[in-house]
Amino acid sequence: MTKFYPDSKVELQGFTAKFYDKIMNIMTFGSYSLFIKKAIEYMEILPNDTIIDFGAGTGRNALLMNKYLSEEGEILGLEISDQMIAQFKKKTAFIENINVNKQRIDRPFTREKKYDKVFISFVFHGFPFDVQKQIIKNAFNALNENGEFIILDFNEFVTDETPFYFRIPFKIIECKYAFEFVKRDWKRILSDFGFGEFREKTFLKKHIRLLKAKKRN
Ligand SMILES: C[S@@+](CC[C@H](N)C(=O)[O-])C[C@H]1O[C@@H](n2cnc3c(N)ncnc32)[C@H](O)[C@@H]1O
Repeated sequence: MTKFYPDSKVELQGFTAKFYDKIMNIMTFGSYSLFIKKAIEYMEILPNDTIIDFGAGTGRNALLMNKYLSEEGEILGLEISDQMIAQFKKKTAFIENINVNKQRIDRPFTREKKYDKVFISFVFHGFPFDVQKQIIKNAFNALNENGEFIILDFNEFVTDETPFYFRIPFKIIECKYAFEFVKRDWKRILSDFGFGEFREKTFLKKHIRLLKAKKRN
């Protein structure tokens, strides 16, 4: 797969894509499972919610979200990586209301069907600012009135003021877009695109944030 953004680290390929879940578990000394369960709990998913997951990954998050859904609820993952899609399909094979489409989220798209929630987990920070604005527009267009755009990603912080145990891995692992991402005022930016009523929950000593932004009518 050709990388559209050579400086980005969210366009996963090869070994990282194949073993993504295991790598996350190992890098966080096993704490990722508990963290992601908690984060998804804070999404406050309702039984009949329809959810579209931008950059859905292996299907791990879809399975966790599905625990809160009834048969009326639905999850659609959008993914570009064939390796991720294959894992997603394998994990969710017997669950009718979970599907995945091969679809880029960084280009304009509109869907006839509208969703209650757009979820984007550890994908958003990995793009240039103009592309992030396009993703926000795509999220807005994919939502029902009063639907929520839910961003699980890095919080806003001054990198050099973060504790060494966060700063060192962040500086080693993250791409240049992440350094720009953490400096921006996302509530203000999202307000400019028609979102409001922000609610948030932070994790890992406020370095990670689940930000909920409601589509204004
Ligand atoms: C860091 S992983 C996160 C996966 C998942 N959201 C999670 O939290 O486990 C980033 C994901 O975004 C996908 N991705 C990257 N660029 C994308 C794009 N332009 N459109 C759709 N998916 C994309 C990658 O293939 C990868 O699965």
